[in-house]
Amino acid sequence: MTPADGEDLAELLDEQVVYYRAVAAEYEDHALPFPGGAELSEALDAFRPTGRVLELACGPGIWTTQLLRHAADVTAVDASPEMLDIASARVAKERVRFVLADLFRWRPDGRYDVVFFGFWLSHVPLERFASFWSLVADCLKPDGRVFFVDDGYRTAEELVEGEQSSVIRRRLTDGTAYRIVKVAHRPVDLERQLERIGWRIKVHSTSGPFFWGTGSRAPQG
Ligand SMILES: C[S@@+](CC[C@H](N)C(=O)[O-])C[C@H]1O[C@@H](n2cnc3c(N)ncnc32)[C@H](O)[C@@H]1O
Repeated sequence: MTPADGEDLAELLDEQVVYYRAVAAEYEDHALPFPGGAELSEALDAFRPTGRVLELACGPGIWTTQLLRHAADVTAVDASPEMLDIASARVAKERVRFVLADLFRWRPDGRYDVVFFGFWLSHVPLERFASFWSLVADCLKPDGRVFFVDDGYRTAEELVEGEQSSVIRRRLTDGTAYRIVKVAHRPVDLERQLERIGWRIKVHSTSGPFFWGTGSRAPQG
C-alpha cells in the first residue's frame, strides 16, 4: 500500500517536498473545482482559533490569513522555501513567524493554544500517522485544540499504483511527474483511528469532497 521499507518511505517523503517546492508558483492554479471550500472557512471562523496558533504545512499562506483574524500570533511551518516566500508576501508580518522545517524531523519550541493544518494530513503516510499526532500533542497546551481541513480526492490518472495505494503521481503544468503521498481518509474511519490513539476529534463532511476535523486530546484516565 505504501513503500516497502523505511528507505523507500524517506525517499518518497523527500520527493513530496521536491514536488511542493516545484509546484509552489502554480499551486493555486491546481485548486479542486468542487463545492465545500467555503464551508471549511466558515467552520474555521466558527471554531475561532484564538491565542497562540501553530500552522503546520502552511503552504502559500491562504489559511494563515484567516487564522490571523482570530489568533494573537501564528507560527507557520513548511518545508518549502518557495511556499514560505509566497506566504510571507501574502500575509501581514507583525504577528507571524515563518519556520522552514521538515515536519517529520521538526520539534516544537513551545506550546500552542491551537494547532491547525490544511490539506496536510492526507500527505502524512499511514506509517507516520501516530507519530505525527504525537507531535501535534507535544505542540499543544493541556487544554489546546486542533482544527484541520482536508480531502480524500484522487484522480484516476494519479492512481498509478492502484486504488489501494496511498502513493500517487502528481504532475506540474509542464508535465513533470512526482510521486507523493495521498491518503484517502474517510471521515468516520478517521474519527475512529484518532480515538484509538487518544484523541477526541469530530470529523465533518462538506457538500463536496472536503472535510474538517476539530477536537482535542481525550481526557486521561
Ligand atoms: C497540499 S499543500 C497544503 C498547503 C496549505 N496548508 C494549504 O492548505 O493551502 C502541502 C504543504 O505541505 C508542505 N510539505 C510537504 N512535505 C513537508 C514536510 N515534510 N514538512 C513540512 N511541510 C511539508 C508543502 O511544501 C506544501 O506547502
